[in-house]
Amino acid sequence: MKKLIAAVLACMMTASMVACSNGSTGGQSSAAAPSSEAALDAAGSAASTPAAGGKKVGISMPTKSLERWNRDGSYLEDQFEGKGCSVELTYSDNKIDQQVKDIENLIADKVDLLVVAAIDGDSLSNVLNTAKSANIPVISYDRLIMNTDAISYYVSFDNFKVGQLQGQFVVDQLGLKPDDKSKSYNIEFTAGDPADNNATFFFNGAMDVLKPYIDAGILKVPSGQKTFQQVATQSWDTKNAMNRMQNILGSYYSNGKTTLDVALCSNDSTALGVTQAIGSDYMGSNTPIITGQDGDEANLANIIDGKQSMTVYKAVANEAVATLDIGMAMLDGQKPDESLIKSAGWKFDCSYDTKSYDNKKGIVPSYLLVPTVVTKDNIQKELVDTGYYTMDGKYPKAKK
Ligand code: GAL
Repeated sequence: MKKLIAAVLACMMTASMVACSNGSTGGQSSAAAPSSEAALDAAGSAASTPAAGGKKVGISMPTKSLERWNRDGSYLEDQFEGKGCSVELTYSDNKIDQQVKDIENLIADKVDLLVVAAIDGDSLSNVLNTAKSANIPVISYDRLIMNTDAISYYVSFDNFKVGQLQGQFVVDQLGLKPDDKSKSYNIEFTAGDPADNNATFFFNGAMDVLKPYIDAGILKVPSGQKTFQQVATQSWDTKNAMNRMQNILGSYYSNGKTTLDVALCSNDSTALGVTQAIGSDYMGSNTPIITGQDGDEANLANIIDGKQSMTVYKAVANEAVATLDIGMAMLDGQKPDESLIKSAGWKFDCSYDTKSYDNKKGIVPSYLLVPTVVTKDNIQKELVDTGYYTMDGKYPKAKK
């Protein structure tokens, strides 16, 4: 019966492929973001050999409460279904046990491929070792999964670069010069979830740019909180970030004289909380520089209203295209490597890295896409003209 269905699907696939293979979309601001049909079309170029269609793909996302993952899940589902795969998409409500259970169920359902964005990178080695024993290949999606050799590939953005872009934005906005100590500025840091392997890459990237200024006394941290552990935010939670910033403002900025010049936030969900705390508890008359990441709608609105200064945008539509082509090549028995970047015809930039991401069981070959700085001045060009967002009145609205 299964063979018959596969044969029928294969025929349908061949028919649709003839209709649709024409170079991948997305990428840097030049290309229009895909509507789901366009995404399906464009993505099919590289790996959609008939053999790979008709497979079952299990996609495990961390939560729906952090905006971007809704987009990731939906783009990934569209991409794989567009190749004739059946998709089981799960969201685990940021609960680690729930994600383990969800993946156990996907394995029990005999998926042919797992795509997993981990809540806690250190909590999945057992269940993924089970996947390995069942010969189910695993793609570590966006966040690196640690302590298991069950991972075939890692697909993400250059996470260290995200932090560097945030740090450089601060340097440029303040016009800092390493040897100009004539004026100093106050900065506070808000980083991400310690369970997320990306969080330290973002923080270390920002510190890579800013630490020389801190060491030179040009940037001061009145709270004294400068290590990742001190500034991390459990679950990337907006409320946690708000509460911590309210405490800092109350303890170090309540005299009305101490100015907060910069709030370096690793992503938009934390930046939203910090912006709320500044709105309610900051005594100063200036508007601090606030950084972010992800292009969440509420934060883009704050950027347009001048409450947040920038966000580092990562086109997850392209992250899904890359994951599709890597996944389909694997389902076709191939071992994709750097050459896929060329052969796939992706219109977005991507590098193949076999050095940076060691998950404590060895280096995981990684495909890393390029993040983009978005401010009030280029929202139209980077997000709307590219088709990732539409303008809903004054504010951008994500396509997905
Ligand atoms: C990170 C991800 C960021 C941000 C954060 C919170 O792993 O790379 O884009 O969304 O999680 O969800």
